[in-house]
Amino acid sequence: MKFLRLILLSLSTSVLAYTSLSDDFLKLVPSGGDDFDIHNGKLLAPILIPRVSGTAGSLKVQEHFVNFFQKELPKWTIEWHNSTSKTPATGDRDVPFANLIFKREPPWVKQGQSNLLTLVAHYDSKYTPDGFVGATDSAVPCAILMHTARSLDKYLTQMHDEMDALGEGGTVEMDMGVQILLLDGEEAFVSWTDVDSLYGARALAQAWEDTLHPSLSTYRNPLSQITAFVLLDLLGAANPKIPSFFQTTHWAYKNMATIEDRMRKLGLLEATPNSPFLPESSKEPHQFGRGHVEDDHIPFMRRGVPILHLIPTPFPRVWHTMDDDGDHLDLPTVRDWAKIITAFAFEWLDMMEVAPQSQ
Ligand SMILES: *[C@@H]1O[C@H](CO)[C@@H](O)[C@H](O)[C@H]1NC(C)=O
Ligand SMILES: [Zn+2]
Repeated sequence: MKFLRLILLSLSTSVLAYTSLSDDFLKLVPSGGDDFDIHNGKLLAPILIPRVSGTAGSLKVQEHFVNFFQKELPKWTIEWHNSTSKTPATGDRDVPFANLIFKREPPWVKQGQSNLLTLVAHYDSKYTPDGFVGATDSAVPCAILMHTARSLDKYLTQMHDEMDALGEGGTVEMDMGVQILLLDGEEAFVSWTDVDSLYGARALAQAWEDTLHPSLSTYRNPLSQITAFVLLDLLGAANPKIPSFFQTTHWAYKNMATIEDRMRKLGLLEATPNSPFLPESSKEPHQFGRGHVEDDHIPFMRRGVPILHLIPTPFPRVWHTMDDDGDHLDLPTVRDWAKIITAFAFEWLDMMEVAPQSQ
């Protein structure tokens, strides 16, 4: 009980600091445009290849992510979290799993001081069927998070510079950062069980539980620095419907749904879905059941991390078939998601503080 109350307390702190983006700022949120082209789009096209953990395709997309951050976003730190495991499909061989952590914190924070909006997707693709690409699962979510990082970057720089100049810092609102986890080994090699799935996520959650920050740190370990674990999965098909799964993060779900609704009314979104992407804003407390979808959040949720799971229900029709490829994506929906997720991150990170002056 005590633990639960602590979580609620820290959530309400974030609520207090929350300022909605203005209409003018919403209009400036970029969609990624041609960077999501499936043949030569700079962000997405390089991920649309088979990338089973431990294969050459996997190394190629890792390189794509690392090159992008190194070249375009040098202020983000890059960290690997590597592990190995046997799988039911690969016998005695130790399959390598490599999670990537891209992080941007205020420059003044010490280890264990920042609270981190944590945006997550998996980059591995399924072992079978042979040649499976997994465009929605989860090439598109990875590309969207690259776009979000890039869109945040200059505003974060401006914000940190201004706060540094004023000598601010040391409060929850000020010590806010963002990290992007691109996780490996989400997919089962044979069929989904507790030990054949979530290879990267399980290893990372355990490692972070075992990593203790220095004793006077604000947060005790990297898990407790996560203010919300926002997991994107199976995005990119037309007409997605994302339920609100968890009552503890329903307030954040509502904030994202409000962004979607406002953007739609302002004519900023391209797709014309038959219902909102996020239709459950008015869900009442008694309507939250135990229903959820097993995914990379599970090992983190079991350790008390608040989860916002962005996965459509029902799943896209192409799910786990050879048709989950670039040709079956709905690119207007992809670009709309890129805008919505990016605006959500802007709002979370209090970017109205550095909103460009309107003309
Ligand atoms: C983790 O594995 C990747 C290959 O997947 C490699 O490039 C990287 O150097 C490794 N990092 C560490 C810290 O072991
Ligand atoms: Zn999958």
